[in-house]
This record gives sequence, C-alpha cells and structure tokens, in this order.
Amino acid sequence: MLNVVVLVSGGGTNLQAIIDAVESGVITNAKIAGVISNNKNAYALERAQKHGIRGLCISPKEYASREEFNEKFLEEVEKMNPDLIVLAGFLVVIPPAMIERYRNRIINIHPSLIPSFCGTGFYGLKVHEAALARGVKVVGATVHFVDEGTDTGPIILQKAVEVQQGDTPEVLQRRVMEQAEWKILPQAINLIANGKVTVENGKVNIAE
Ligand code: GAR
Repeated sequence: MLNVVVLVSGGGTNLQAIIDAVESGVITNAKIAGVISNNKNAYALERAQKHGIRGLCISPKEYASREEFNEKFLEEVEKMNPDLIVLAGFLVVIPPAMIERYRNRIINIHPSLIPSFCGTGFYGLKVHEAALARGVKVVGATVHFVDEGTDTGPIILQKAVEVQQGDTPEVLQRRVMEQAEWKILPQAINLIANGKVTVENGKVNIAE
C-alpha cells in the first residue's frame, strides 16, 4: 500500500480529485497518509479534515530563516513516512534535501503542457494569462517528477485541452482542471501505486 502525502497551498481541488479517486477505487493500492499546507487558511485543509485525513500547517513565515523552515518541513514530511509526495498546487520551493531524499518519489501537477508556460513565475492563473496572451490554441496539464529545477523533472503524463474563443484566464483554468488536471493526477498516482512507472535516463516509462 503506497503511503501518499499531499502538499497544498490553496483551494485543494486537485487534493479533492485524489481523495475521490481513492474513495471510489479509481486509485488502488494507495492511501493518503496526510496533507501538509504552508497556509493555515487553505480550504484544502478543510477538505482533508472532512475525509478524516490528518492535516497540518507549516509556513516559512513562522521561521527565522528558510534553512530552519526547510529542516522542520522535512522532519514533518518524514514523520508521515511517505512512499510518494504529491505537490497539488503547492507553491513553496521544495528543499534540495527533500528532493535528494525522495528522488523520483515526488510528483507535481503543472497547469500547462511542459515545456510551454512553465518555470519560475509560471504558477496558477499566471500560466493561463500567459497562454491567452500568446494566443495558443491548445493548452493542457502535466504531471512530472520533481528534480532540482523548476518544472524540469521527468514527465509522467500530459493531457491537452482546447482554448475557446472568448476564454478568460479563469474560464481556461477551470477547463484545464476539469479536463486534464483532475484526471491525470489521480491516474499518475494509480500508475505509481501499481508499480507501472519507472525512470530511466531522465525519462519515464509506463508499463502496459
Ligand atoms: C492547479 O491549477 C495546479 O495545477 C496549480 O495550482 C492550482 C492549484 O489548484 N499549480 C501550479 O501552478 C504549480 N506550478 P487547487 O489548489 O485547486 O488544486
């Protein structure tokens, strides 16, 4: 049984998609061991509570230095004993020691088709604003392993979504979530939980 820890910062709709997928059996061989937020007001924490999942908040703002926070953060994650760490809209930079410790065991959902509209400064609504400003006709989402770069790790799954005439960033964001993020994130977790995903030379192989 894969022990999954989910890291969140905001609304937690991706967390909800994971919870629903575990409860309905779309994800097998996995359980959510806990949810960690850097923001005590994150609605994601309420979602966890409603489903009897342990939630805790740890914020860089409560520590004198980033080093101190990073150390405490890693400690809290380790206590939950994760086999897989899922970044579901988590907006804090992952400490290098955590990446090292959980190499190829941390995944992130990003709301674009990487390598478009990703990297430093591209998160949340900003991604969709940039896509509309560029006038692309197809957008989407990506699930990838987390390495030392920003959105540079091995890609696990991607799903494309069409831009429609008159889209606002908010409308596009919602469509990308509904049609791509809430599907491929649970799907990636299920593949990992069932031993289907391997990484070789920086690329992901998915077994049949
Ligand atoms: C999601 O769209 C996720 O892809 C994005 O933040 C949103 C969180 O929503 N993540 C990033 O931009 C990471 N670079 P949620 O809290 O409702 O899941």
